[in-house]
Amino acid sequence: MPNSAPAASFASDYATHVNPRWATLLNVLQMNVKYDRCFGTELFTADGRRVLDYLSGYCVHNIGHNHPYVIQALKEEMDRCGPAMLQSHVPELAGELARRLCDLAGGELRKVFFGSSGSEGVEAAIKFARAATRRAGLLCAKNSFHGLTTGALSLMTDPFWREGFEPLLQNTVALPFGDLAALERELSTKRFAAFIVEPLQSEAGINLAPVGYLQGAQEICRRTGTLFVLDEVQTGMFRTGPFLAGHYAGVDPDIVILAKALSGGLVPVSATLMTDEVYESVYSSLRRAIVHTSTFSENSLSMRAGLATLDVLEKQSLGARASALGEMLRTRLREELSPFEMVKEVRGLGMLSGIEFKSPSKLSLKVAFESFRAIHPAMFGQIVVMRLFRDKGILTQICGNNFMVLKVAPPLVVTEDELNEFVAAIRDVVDLMHSSPSFWTEALGLAKRAVNI
Ligand SMILES: Cc1ncc(COP(=O)(O)O)c(C=O)c1O
Repeated sequence: MPNSAPAASFASDYATHVNPRWATLLNVLQMNVKYDRCFGTELFTADGRRVLDYLSGYCVHNIGHNHPYVIQALKEEMDRCGPAMLQSHVPELAGELARRLCDLAGGELRKVFFGSSGSEGVEAAIKFARAATRRAGLLCAKNSFHGLTTGALSLMTDPFWREGFEPLLQNTVALPFGDLAALERELSTKRFAAFIVEPLQSEAGINLAPVGYLQGAQEICRRTGTLFVLDEVQTGMFRTGPFLAGHYAGVDPDIVILAKALSGGLVPVSATLMTDEVYESVYSSLRRAIVHTSTFSENSLSMRAGLATLDVLEKQSLGARASALGEMLRTRLREELSPFEMVKEVRGLGMLSGIEFKSPSKLSLKVAFESFRAIHPAMFGQIVVMRLFRDKGILTQICGNNFMVLKVAPPLVVTEDELNEFVAAIRDVVDLMHSSPSFWTEALGLAKRAVNI
């Protein structure tokens, strides 16, 4: 397709050749807008609107959109015309990025496998754990999100994601998040290679690990010869304050998976960090030196993007900022939203928060709410998302495995004024749902359009 093709034809090409249903869904939700330029926390549309990003591409844009420092680093890397994807040399940048990631992660993590997506990182963790322990079993937490490739999907329990794709990997068991007794019971069988867990369950509804859970899990893992694996794809890269959310619990995992924000939002990359012991069990001889690899692993643009992104995160102390401003945001949200009966809880860590809604007890509201839930469990949350987007110019989403929780995850460069803007906006939308029939009548129209598609 030549570059001079009109914008409309690009859009219809997408609808014809990529994912027409996605385009239709965005139309129904009135969120199918054309974005021209994106900087920091702000997205600018072709028709002159400014949208504040409170989703960050599901925790990709920790340093904000199109950070000039990362763009400059990528331009320089391209101008250099250096070796890229030779598959026959030692990529120095990969070494530098791996060293910095291991230093930041701490503990015994000394080696890194680079991939191109979070799922690919999880796949690597599954294979490495099996190689290291010579066990087949994989233990995970219910409702977690680990990615949609076959192995990663095997660690997810929500039938929505699994339906049509089974049978998936055998020997996987899922336990309630936070249940140490169940973990002890399963791991004592010594048939599990790894316990793979998000330190804060993100798509499950911003579920914080109960105090002592991660440390307890690590202790049981050590005792039973099971690898303790943290999926920090959303929570890592200073999103929750420290470099890893696992640092809150002071744990020392055998494998950590990073992705999303590591790219600076510009180039796909993931990193599976592991101990020397795990590395030795996989790449155990010269014959096996490339026994697990991937074409785009260690490519120079990803590595440069990763290094530049770390520079920005560290120089601007974005972790400390996430801690301080995240706490301030939750305090303000609690102050503003606690009078409303449909707001159950505001919770989170650093700049990863959730607002949980609940069914109202007031009869008039309850009837409206329950009829929505009957149409589709995600309908209510989606109306909140749509209202915030259309009426307030704020982009958010509900959690993928818990439709009653609105995820609040702006780039870590978000300003205090922009936090206030969000608090005022969500307050207005929540007020509307409690006080105005128009919230529910308009929502009903949307629901009808959605079910007729
Ligand atoms: C915790 C977690 N792990 C893994 C993944 C999979 O990452 P990707 O979509 O890059 O494959 C995701 C994606 O949202 C995630 O949230």
